[in-house]
Amino acid sequence: MIDQGIISDIKYRNPIEDVISGYVSLKRAGSNMNGLCPFHSERTPSFTVFSSSQNFYCFGCGAGGDVITFIMKAENLDYISAIKFLGKRVGIEINDEEAQKGEASRTRILAMNKSAAKFFHTCLMESDNNPGIRYLRDKRGFTNQQIVHFGLGYAKDGWDNLTKHLKGQGYSDEEMKTAFLSSKSQKTGRSFDYFRNRVMIPIIDMTGNIIAFGGRILTDEQPKYMNTSDTPVFKKSRNLFAMNFAKNTCADKLILCEGYMDVIALHGAGFTNSVATLGTAITPEHARLMKRYTKSVLISYDSDSAGQNAADKAFRLLSEVGLEARVLDMGDIKDPDEFIRKRGKEEFRKLLEGTKNRFEFKFNAIKARHNLNTTDGRVKAAAETVAVLAEFPSSVERTIYAGNAAKVLGVNQETLLYDAEKYMKKSDKKKSSEEKQKMMIRSGGYGDTVNPDYVKNPAAAAAEEAIIGMMLLRTELVGEIKKIEGFGAESFFTEFNRRVYEFIIKSYEEGNGVFDEGCLSRSFSDAEVGRVVKMKIRRMELSDNGINTLKECVERLMDATSVKSGNSIEDLEELIKNKRRKNQ
Ligand code: CTP
Ligand code: MN
Repeated sequence: MIDQGIISDIKYRNPIEDVISGYVSLKRAGSNMNGLCPFHSERTPSFTVFSSSQNFYCFGCGAGGDVITFIMKAENLDYISAIKFLGKRVGIEINDEEAQKGEASRTRILAMNKSAAKFFHTCLMESDNNPGIRYLRDKRGFTNQQIVHFGLGYAKDGWDNLTKHLKGQGYSDEEMKTAFLSSKSQKTGRSFDYFRNRVMIPIIDMTGNIIAFGGRILTDEQPKYMNTSDTPVFKKSRNLFAMNFAKNTCADKLILCEGYMDVIALHGAGFTNSVATLGTAITPEHARLMKRYTKSVLISYDSDSAGQNAADKAFRLLSEVGLEARVLDMGDIKDPDEFIRKRGKEEFRKLLEGTKNRFEFKFNAIKARHNLNTTDGRVKAAAETVAVLAEFPSSVERTIYAGNAAKVLGVNQETLLYDAEKYMKKSDKKKSSEEKQKMMIRSGGYGDTVNPDYVKNPAAAAAEEAIIGMMLLRTELVGEIKKIEGFGAESFFTEFNRRVYEFIIKSYEEGNGVFDEGCLSRSFSDAEVGRVVKMKIRRMELSDNGINTLKECVERLMDATSVKSGNSIEDLEELIKNKRRKNQ
């Protein structure tokens, strides 16, 4: 871990307004600054930078944090790299040794992954006719060169081949579980391999670390793929398969696929600028990652309806970060892997020349859905075209697309444009009323995904948020709250808030009375960090955040979880659970 003093120094020399101004155009509004949120698409600014607390928070999407969290999100970096990035910005060099101190578990997981990858690769290459190599060569048609280039491997069909191997190298069951390489049987308490009877695909980050694995089963059994879940070294929403290779050749164009096998096939055919998401739909983080390396993305998703719907989402996210996006049309061939095998690379190269933009892509689908030889079909197609046109904020684009569509549909270009503008106004209104409704639902605690327990006891949850907010705002209160008798993590009603409380206390103790909220990003998701920052900002707007108020909130929390509030069976059950927890 980097020394807390150095982190504080780096934060001090990187005022949040300065740093964020490099990404967002900010306008002063009282003591705060406002701008358009870089993390979601919006037309009116709900992104706020709080100078006094050095936080940002978006009232639209709930993103929030400090300057380190901001850089993590904007530059797609992990915690340590974000600190290094900010350090560099102000001339503070952090050596790797320093950064790696106490980063032991991260280093161990990476070393363990590397060792596992070697083991899988050796198992694959040790004979010419094991099931793994037969699958890759005969069934998938991959060459030796492709297999070696991607470091593919084979997890044999047995219970604990890898687990034994790693144990022999001194890794513990716990470490293997954290890395998602082993699971523990509830019954026997023994550890066994997570990946069995699968060909293994290592996932490598930009600096060459093996951060995760995908494993494909050799048969038709389910699940077809198993993937490493999020670990301390891997977030699937932030990484792209083969980006480590593609980054060298994708400056102009990047080919985005759905599957590992598609990418391996494309690289083998010379299209080394291909990447894939990792068993998830594309996220804004993926889009921002691509934006750092390329100008234009060619979406090459499966031709089934799931793939086409996913393509629509990809178009939206890519254009939100300012990337040009186009889509490939593979006709009736399922995916790029199959295309290369059936038609070859020259035909694929032709596909790259004939890509479609978002309007053409959607208009094509409309044409396919309706019979344009009938009046009825043309009317319906025109109505759908209007809705698609309305998705383009640029009037130049709308005019050109409307012109093309008008010819095909046999209608007037002006009419399409006029209707599209009307449609835009209507949907703007609808959006803002939906936003309002969402806000109301949120403030009532319903549909709360970060803290689903909120709604079960809003009074308790609100008191908890006040307590956490104050602890963050005034670190010295953490010391005070520890002194309150009969109060502790077990007094919390909602699990999320309890987890936050425990984290703050632990970090405070480890830091000898210093707590930096930036480190929340290491243990909590972006949405969770945003929520915690919101608790702090709420308190900032109030003038009274002293020890007495804190004590009042503690009492309110105790009150809200005592017998008085119980009036339904569920409440009662919750209460009993709580009591048990307290007595443990
Ligand atoms: N995927 C997954 N889990 C599944 C199925 C798919 O994680 N049960 C992910 C994998 O990353 C896979 C991608 O989704 O590479 C695309 O899935 P699919 O189109 O079903 O697979 P293909 O790549 O066509 O796989 P294959 O050619 O091996 O059948
Ligand atoms: Mn496939």
